[in-house]
Amino acid sequence: MIINEKEVLNFNDKKIVSYNVSFENGFEFEILNLGGVITKIVTPDKDNNFENIVVGYDDIKSYIENPSYFGAIIGRTSGRIYNGKFILEGNEFDLAKNYNPHNGHGGNKGFNKKIWDVEVIKGDNKVDFKLTTKSFDMEESFPGNLDICVNFEVKKDFEINQTYTVKTDKTTLVNLTNHTYFNLSGDLKRPVTTHNMKLDSEYILEIDETCGVTGEKINVKDTPFDFRNLHNIGDRIDSDNYQIKLGNGYDHPFLLNNTREIYLEDDISKRCMTINTSQEVVVVYSMNFTDDCVLYNKKTNQKRFGICFETQAPPIGKNMSFIENSILKKDETYIQNTSYKFFIK
Ligand code: BGC
Repeated sequence: MIINEKEVLNFNDKKIVSYNVSFENGFEFEILNLGGVITKIVTPDKDNNFENIVVGYDDIKSYIENPSYFGAIIGRTSGRIYNGKFILEGNEFDLAKNYNPHNGHGGNKGFNKKIWDVEVIKGDNKVDFKLTTKSFDMEESFPGNLDICVNFEVKKDFEINQTYTVKTDKTTLVNLTNHTYFNLSGDLKRPVTTHNMKLDSEYILEIDETCGVTGEKINVKDTPFDFRNLHNIGDRIDSDNYQIKLGNGYDHPFLLNNTREIYLEDDISKRCMTINTSQEVVVVYSMNFTDDCVLYNKKTNQKRFGICFETQAPPIGKNMSFIENSILKKDETYIQNTSYKFFIK
């Protein structure tokens, strides 16, 4: 395998470095110290064409703002915190309402905007990219000093295992995820509406007009959210279902059953992937909005050109519903993992 480390940008005296590993079999992975953004996962299609299967920007500068959070580590909390407020141990915390009227993805300067320390650990047919950083007490108005580690174990046999570890010195909220948008057509050839998905989930969490979680569950039976059997993603994405209309497509937390497995395939390239996770929820976001930045290979940024699987605890909804699932106390360790496995049908 070949490991490459390259300074790709210097802004405000901060060095943005990309770390790349490519294996003899063509599997390639690339990550930035900025936001832990995954810029490349290269896998073969049925004809052995090696292409990038994640969505990313053409210009590295676009990752500084990264309006769509492409590929990034999300924290302290993923998704929306209803009305940007919460109470912990009797103290009220008022957060940035960057997802009006809610707080979203960690606030104005979430973990996606941090420059992480990266350690590269070479193993047998694998490399670990160990990303660490700190978040200070009252940063983005959250209590507690955090030590955070996100380890990406990249294995030659087309596997990526992410392990998230966090410690705090005060009771706080922690709910991390990864915001990679997948597109198995390769190099963004087709929208993900052509892909099929299977998801072992019987319930989604209801969202309201503000896209915040209400605290209620909805059974997926007879709805566009039923992916218990393999189903095409585009088929029901514009259907006349109220929840679909509110999200402008899929933008909902799915409660995962015991298998906690998600499967995605592209029938044309025959690329497939499975996601396994320790997390209880996956927020499926079907790229229902775009930003103004150009995608790599100068592709126009278009709706539904990627799909995000945000494995996480449920977002904190109305009346602080589900807050318990995101609480981390002093002397406890937050440990979660999510793995991706890529293969051909
Ligand atoms: C959210 C979407 C949001 C997108 C980009 C997703 O994780 O669920 O509502 O539009 O991130 O910010």
